[in-house]
Amino acid sequence: MQISVKNKNLRDWSGSVLVIGIFEGDIQLQLELLAGIFDIALLTSHLETNDFSGKVGEKVHLQILGRSPQKLVFIGLGDTTKLMLNDLREGAVLAAREAFDSEGSMGVLFPWEQFDSKIAAKAVTESIRLSFFKDQRFQSDPKPRKQPIAIDLIGISENIDTTIKEVNSICAGVELARELVGAPPNELTPECLAKKAIQIAKEFKLEYKILNRKDCEKEGMGAYLAVAQGSDLDPKFIHLIYKPSGQILRKVVLVGKGLTFDSGGYNLKVGASKIEMMKYDMGGSASVLGAARSIGEIAPKGTEVHFIVASCENMVNGSAVHPGDIIKASNGTTIEINNTDAEGRLTLADALIYACKLKPDVIVDLATLTGACVIALGEQIAGLWANDDMLANQLKEASSCCGENLWRMPLHSSYKEGLKSMLADIKNTGPRAGGSITAALFLREFIEEGISWAHIDIAGPCWSDKGYGSNPAGATGFGVKTLVNWACNQ
Ligand code: BES
Ligand code: MG
Ligand code: ZN
Repeated sequence: MQISVKNKNLRDWSGSVLVIGIFEGDIQLQLELLAGIFDIALLTSHLETNDFSGKVGEKVHLQILGRSPQKLVFIGLGDTTKLMLNDLREGAVLAAREAFDSEGSMGVLFPWEQFDSKIAAKAVTESIRLSFFKDQRFQSDPKPRKQPIAIDLIGISENIDTTIKEVNSICAGVELARELVGAPPNELTPECLAKKAIQIAKEFKLEYKILNRKDCEKEGMGAYLAVAQGSDLDPKFIHLIYKPSGQILRKVVLVGKGLTFDSGGYNLKVGASKIEMMKYDMGGSASVLGAARSIGEIAPKGTEVHFIVASCENMVNGSAVHPGDIIKASNGTTIEINNTDAEGRLTLADALIYACKLKPDVIVDLATLTGACVIALGEQIAGLWANDDMLANQLKEASSCCGENLWRMPLHSSYKEGLKSMLADIKNTGPRAGGSITAALFLREFIEEGISWAHIDIAGPCWSDKGYGSNPAGATGFGVKTLVNWACNQ
């Protein structure tokens, strides 16, 4: 669904669903703007009968026969003095649910003037478009879907065309990430992921490089290849590059964990460890490739962006890593693999070393890295670790303005003790307690001095069984919005 936004006055507007945001308080007064279009007394009494008082989360609709709009929807926005951007997002999601199955255009009249209207328009249109997403690719006879073809934002006088273009690019990136994560592991193999990456590169004029097993052997990527060796499928190391036109002011690398399936290896996932869900262990790479798609299309000035994924499967066969093996990463670090299920950090170690060789200013990695992070923060908040306060703040800012939640976690150096190996330089797994912190500390070992680095653990928010906000049940595409906002606005 592509959003086309028209700024219209209420009187000139016609369409199938009209959504109106209402504050708590004097509702009749707020309905005055509908005078001459609808019967105000009738509307007031309908809202009263339905106990609508304008509180956040309330909605009431009215079916209208034989004229435009066919449906009128009132959304509660709460106390006018306390209105937050998130209330508009929530209202937009409720509105989208009311507009499911409506064809034609959807008009939205919200209090744009309480915010920068571009920011409010972005929040609302993003939430609506992303709420409409439904993955029907794997149904043999999907039910045809109706949905609005346009969203008309009513009452914005400013020209917001550039904002809407950006919203469409970002949403397409999120949808791409959702499709990659949603695809089953028998379809979305490392090779398939690499093919998708090449497609993105070709369509959005990015440079690309795919390293196969031999290339990675030459690079000495023993940590990454150790994970891949238990699978019958070839690993694919993906590298896309966005080069802006004009002067390059900074170089950033986005790295995504790309395990197309994580069985745990010989430390097999059993019991409640959700082995059947481990297709989403490439969620980090999906968000990074989704961001590549969006950034390629938006084409921001000044920033060169690299996108890196060391993709493979973590499986069990006769050549799979033994628990206890000692392997060597491409910077010479020897690693004792005391748990084959802590595989993501092994693939990321070689990806981060490769990233550092590009001499970037900043590296940000996204990974479904630890169950411990899910226990700590749940499904709506990702953990953020950073060796640079400014970068951490930038990422938090970029996420909060698009409705994604990051919570900064400590890189507490003394916990590195837990990664001490008796034989090798380091082992890949520390104690259960603080497991997401030792995972982050493990990654930090592969970042060169002087490079700003952040790690985002998306094991919780990458997937939602029930859905929430503008995320329907399933893959969320978490991280794309944050990465794009951050990369395009520095
Ligand atoms: N892919 C998992 C992490 C994960 C768990 C993602 C649950 C999403 C939901 C990762 O490879 C893993 O298995 N981590 C282990 C690490 C442990 C062995 C130190 C974990 O979290 O249990
Ligand atoms: Mg694992
Ligand atoms: Zn994993």
